[in-house]
Amino acid sequence: MMDNRLLRAEHYNTHFDPDAYVKTYYTDLDDTYQSGVLPFVLKGEHDVFKSGDVKGRRLLDIGTGPVPHSVIPAVPFVQDIYLTDFSAANRKYLYDALFGSGKQDYSNIFEFLVNLSDKSQPWTKFSDDLKDKVRGIFPCDLLQDDIFKGSYFPLFDVITTSFCMDVAPPDVETYGKIAKEISKYLKIGGHLVVVGEFDATYYVVGEHKFFCLNKSAGEVKSCWKNAGFSIQSWNQMDASEKCEDNDFGGNYVMHCIKES
Ligand SMILES: C[S@@+](CC[C@H](N)C(=O)[O-])C[C@H]1O[C@@H](n2cnc3c(N)ncnc32)[C@H](O)[C@@H]1O
Repeated sequence: MMDNRLLRAEHYNTHFDPDAYVKTYYTDLDDTYQSGVLPFVLKGEHDVFKSGDVKGRRLLDIGTGPVPHSVIPAVPFVQDIYLTDFSAANRKYLYDALFGSGKQDYSNIFEFLVNLSDKSQPWTKFSDDLKDKVRGIFPCDLLQDDIFKGSYFPLFDVITTSFCMDVAPPDVETYGKIAKEISKYLKIGGHLVVVGEFDATYYVVGEHKFFCLNKSAGEVKSCWKNAGFSIQSWNQMDASEKCEDNDFGGNYVMHCIKES
């Protein structure tokens, strides 16, 4: 039976089921399933990286959760990939999927992305390249002053984050503060790629509803601009119909450069 509380923060360690999340949001690549959010997101991420201009040695992904889609299109363009998440269960799921006994291989996501680019490579080559470049899956809590809980990181060339800034900050003011904190980990001139939603209050994972920060697309853009970024591209898709798993008004893929 559905638990109607809106869960957040520590609940990601106790109530968030990584497998249910992947099955609900990352299995069906049909354009009609959930208004086609997943193909929209993957195409948007691919479009940011395909020119080869968004590149560098070190990439940080914030709130990777149980699925690394946000870094897959970047694999050919970076050397060292650092994954992070708040939830120990998500970090274990991701570790098992990439390096251990997990059954999840994300083949549908790799295949979709291979079809958008170099069709001559098997998806397994793409997957092996990702595994070769991942340097670790680190703890992260965006609500703490020390986001990475003591892990020391030199500055990154590229930062990606997907659907994490939608759930961690309790209000728009805190969203803006966290954007400024994240900026400290990126080189001037470095690239930021944010995937997210707007005009939403919840999403469902298994029997549980999780909190989403209700904000407009304009508020998202302002927060990142105020944190020193210039927006290079903003690709948006409004939800065409209501879906039972969430009340997203729309989704976006944004590419920014850190100016200051
Ligand atoms: C909706 S999932 C997104 C996962 C994945 N990046 C994606 O694109 O599907 C939100 C993620 O944010 C993480 N998260 C929640 N609160 C957080 C916090 N305070 N700091 C860092 N990550 C957090 C959760 O553990 C979860 O993996």
